[in-house]
Amino acid sequence: MSRPGRSLILGIETSCDETAAAVVENGWLVRGARVATQHELHRPYGGVVPELASRAHVDVLTPTLAGAIEASGVDAADLTAIAVGNRPGLVGSLVVGVAAAKAMSWSLGVPLLGVDHVLAHLVAARLREPAKVSGTFVAAAEAPDTPDLPQLGLVVSGGHTSLYAVPDAGSPRVLGSTLDDAVGEAFDKAAKILGLGHPGGPAIERLAAGVTREAADARVRLPRSLLGRGSLDFSFSGLKTALLYAVRGQPEKGPDGKTRFPRSEADLPEAERAALAAAFQFAAVDVIVKKLGRALEALAAEGTPPGAVVLGGGVSANRHLRERVTAWAEARGLPCRLPAPAHCVDNGAMIAAAGHDLLLAGDLADLRLPAVSTGPR
Ligand code: KG4
Ligand code: ZN
Repeated sequence: MSRPGRSLILGIETSCDETAAAVVENGWLVRGARVATQHELHRPYGGVVPELASRAHVDVLTPTLAGAIEASGVDAADLTAIAVGNRPGLVGSLVVGVAAAKAMSWSLGVPLLGVDHVLAHLVAARLREPAKVSGTFVAAAEAPDTPDLPQLGLVVSGGHTSLYAVPDAGSPRVLGSTLDDAVGEAFDKAAKILGLGHPGGPAIERLAAGVTREAADARVRLPRSLLGRGSLDFSFSGLKTALLYAVRGQPEKGPDGKTRFPRSEADLPEAERAALAAAFQFAAVDVIVKKLGRALEALAAEGTPPGAVVLGGGVSANRHLRERVTAWAEARGLPCRLPAPAHCVDNGAMIAAAGHDLLLAGDLADLRLPAVSTGPR
């Protein structure tokens, strides 16, 4: 039986190419989690194929749910609520998780919680893994610090690049967003340009490892698009195009009128491709850190200086970004809340954590909960 005031929420995530579920206690303690990734499935296509993604969710969701519940050491009957990411994402993928969540909520007689996937990334930093011996729960982890609200939030993922003012749980205000590609999408496209596999972020990070800023700059200095003075928006399409030209050379018109590049990425030696990957990573991270600075100034000018900076989303797993943001925050005396790498990329635990906040706020969904491709931001 669940103790009064204690919540045990099952979080379900199927918005894109990860089928994930987790049971989270009290909004932060990850009792058990499972993630089935579809990276291999989509690799031949260099990106996520929506129809294949939704079919794969159908195939693996039931064992993923059962696995997460079993790993958590609790009984399904002890669950307090079922949380599901119902927006934004690929509708055919979202609907698989939403249908399962409705079925579980209805059959167990517990509340259904509809979670905004992007906002869930913003609460992932408070998740903690308990100590387990041979997979058995032995002790809770140390509770996260009480949230130092208001916070400056940044979500950097494959679909979003947004800065937020986070005055309290559940009601962040967008300060700025990308006008074109999300930064994770830019990493994925950069990886494709460099002939690397999908997903591109980790591949770029691996190739760029060990290349100094001086070595990268010596090969090419890629543009840092900061947009207008004081703008808190982002743009990564120019960076991606500049990388394309640096890798393949300036395009020329052939005798048939078609545009051709003088070389392909395969013509470049490994060391040069590594320098280009690093040049891309330095440029992308420089922009992000610069925009964090602008957002901090903007919040201070509004009279609401943040008590901490909180990151989330797949790109926040990037080591270079983590080091730079940590150093940036330290220099300003700001605590920096970074999720564990496994909680940066899509996962069920962040959905359960965000669901916990909805439960506390009494913001319950019902069986009419839709799967929605776009979010409010
Ligand atoms: O949050 P996420 O799992 O899914 C979305 O909500 O989009 O983010 C996936 C994105 C992909 O674009 C992936 O390339 C990027 O996060 N990513 C990284 C790293 N790990 C994942 N980007 C840079 N460095 C990484 N280590
Ligand atoms: Zn995500």
